[in-house]
Amino acid sequence: MYELYPYFTNDGSVGLFSPEADDIYHSTYGALTEAYEKFILPADFDKYFSNHNKIKILDICFGIGYNTKSFLNYFYEKIFHEKYIPQNCYIEKIDTDNNTYNDTRDTNNINSENLHHEHHNTKKLSTKNENDNDNDNDNDNLISKPEIYIKAIDTDKTLAFLSPFIMTGKRFLRKEKIKFHQEKIEKMLKKISGPKIKIKDEINIILLLKIIEKHPEILEDAEITSFLTSSKYRRYFSGYMRRFFAFKKSKICKYTPLRQLSAYLHNIYYRYISKRQKRALNTLKMLDFNFELKIDDARKVLLTDNDIYNFVFLDAFTPAKCPCLWTVDFFRLLYSHLDNDGMILTYSNAANIRSAFLEAGFYVGKIYNEHAGKFTGTIAVKNKSLIKNELSEYDLGLLKTKAGIFYRDENLTGQNEAIIAAHETDVETSTRISSSKFIKQWKKIKKPD
Ligand SMILES: C[S@@+](CC[C@H](N)C(=O)[O-])C[C@H]1O[C@@H](n2cnc3c(N)ncnc32)[C@H](O)[C@@H]1O
Repeated sequence: MYELYPYFTNDGSVGLFSPEADDIYHSTYGALTEAYEKFILPADFDKYFSNHNKIKILDICFGIGYNTKSFLNYFYEKIFHEKYIPQNCYIEKIDTDNNTYNDTRDTNNINSENLHHEHHNTKKLSTKNENDNDNDNDNDNLISKPEIYIKAIDTDKTLAFLSPFIMTGKRFLRKEKIKFHQEKIEKMLKKISGPKIKIKDEINIILLLKIIEKHPEILEDAEITSFLTSSKYRRYFSGYMRRFFAFKKSKICKYTPLRQLSAYLHNIYYRYISKRQKRALNTLKMLDFNFELKIDDARKVLLTDNDIYNFVFLDAFTPAKCPCLWTVDFFRLLYSHLDNDGMILTYSNAANIRSAFLEAGFYVGKIYNEHAGKFTGTIAVKNKSLIKNELSEYDLGLLKTKAGIFYRDENLTGQNEAIIAAHETDVETSTRISSSKFIKQWKKIKKPD
């Protein structure tokens, strides 16, 4: 039986621990905060959408979907409302605490005319789309319909199916007892409190509907149902999404007399959810959103994939645990899938990851986290001008040490253990200096940055 090891991280979102990888899936200071800080904010989507209407994202190691959901949330909350909803129109937004409120761009103009305006502009969104170009500058009032395509890959179907249900708003309470791997997890939990952010229910609804569309078997998956209904895991899943799932399931049931009663009860419930569901569906119509979930090894998926992506989120377990997704050969494969102005983002700062990206032909830069005041990741690009923080002299020096020896996987089929063993041999037989010796020498001359 599949086991989950969830815990609340410091921003109130749920993090997971993997006993097999002996690694955490998400940072303990905030799973959701981490997604924003390491993937969404450094990608600078505001800039991207200032001259593009289409985006293709590859989410490698989807897990429970924080990176995809954070992107959709950011797009929906910020970019969609700022760019695609005209300034003087009146739109209805809902907050996640179940209160409806109105977002008014022009507070003096809230009247039926504005409601008409919204409808009118929505129509414009669809018409313009017919003559859409890839790089569309919006200098006039006619705004093209945004097109979003996300391909998400993970080997773990259960996690991917559970992704729309994960709770992302409850604050971690210290008095809550962690019942498994307690010592290990508690050691990891730091006392930094992050911003309380939450994925909107619409995003989860949209994601779940997309998953159901391509993987209808989720509705009859006994394991998923058992997780969602188990009292052990209940608090890690959104109650609203659990009820929504039960409702979707009830729609596929053949009606026995007992089911009729439950269908009747669901219909009562439907009155409650339908408003929200309709909003989510309306957003979906305006968005032209495509979501493909591939349950397989990322190497295998990409070997037969013909798409070119604008952004790649690489969120594999650490290189020492899952080297197969950090090899120079895998990065070469990613190179062939990246747009000339595209960007790969990852949380790893490791020297051998950066040297592998360079060897595969990318320009490499660092991700600076303003909140933490430090560098917290790496970006790889084909267009050097996209790099905001270049590798320093110190970083480049480190790449030439043993720490900069990258992992290899020539046929893209190697097992992690074999890749690690070959790497160890490469390091042992190398004549390069060790990173510790390099750091000592460097400290004598300059202070590392
Ligand atoms: C650090 S977690 C990713 C967390 C995820 N981004 C999230 O938001 O929950 C790493 C993920 O990599 C997946 N994984 C491990 N090996 C893989 C492979 N060869 N191809 C695709 N996914 C893999 C695991 O199933 C796990 O979900």
